[in-house]
Amino acid sequence: MSPTYRIAPSILSADFARLGEEVRNVIAAGADWIHFDVMDNHYVPNLTFGPMICQAVKPHAVTPDGKPVPIDVHLMVQPVDELASAFAKAGADFISFHPDASAHVHRSIQNIKSHGCKAGLVFNPAASLEVLDWVIEDIDLILLMSVNPGFGGQSFIDSTLRKVEAARKRIEASGKDIRLEVDGGIKEANIRAVANAGADTFVAGSAIFGKPDYKAVIDTMRANLAA
Ligand code: DX5
Ligand code: ZN
Repeated sequence: MSPTYRIAPSILSADFARLGEEVRNVIAAGADWIHFDVMDNHYVPNLTFGPMICQAVKPHAVTPDGKPVPIDVHLMVQPVDELASAFAKAGADFISFHPDASAHVHRSIQNIKSHGCKAGLVFNPAASLEVLDWVIEDIDLILLMSVNPGFGGQSFIDSTLRKVEAARKRIEASGKDIRLEVDGGIKEANIRAVANAGADTFVAGSAIFGKPDYKAVIDTMRANLAA
């Protein structure tokens, strides 16, 4: 049975002057999740937005017939816990963080889950997956960066494909239903290769929001995934 693939457009490349409308439009175009790239200009050299934007956008994260769409918050912040709690209260469904940004990774996971959110860990291109040895049972999502975090529109780092394969092996060994998401440089042309390596969820910012017809891009991505 082929896995359920999910397309998670990153609002990092959306028109911030019309964010609610952009979220509604990209969901109507077929998006499965809405990916929030939260940056603090400390852990990464860029600054984006806080929990208030999540709260403002939440009512717009719905399908045309009113079904809520998961908000997938990617925290590129240090420290983690206070902001994670604030995003949980602002309506986040998934909250993932970089383990090297937390002094107590297991406690940060527990904190996210204490708010009723699903917890994920994010791995930078040169980061080892080793921490999963001790917490894979506690998480719902593994997010692999295929660019260095901080900016949209970068090129896909090919070594990530090997890391996707390694992460998929760990998920299979755990027997848990964990989403394997890849973030950065995902395009219509490479999404199939990333899926072949074992990913099931795909963040795409500039590939989608950089084009006039969101549905055409998402349809092409899905067709390439189904090929
Ligand atoms: C990097 C960001 C980007 C973004 C996707 O910190 O996380 O990876 O989500 O950007 P694109 O799809 O434009 O590479
Ligand atoms: Zn991201």
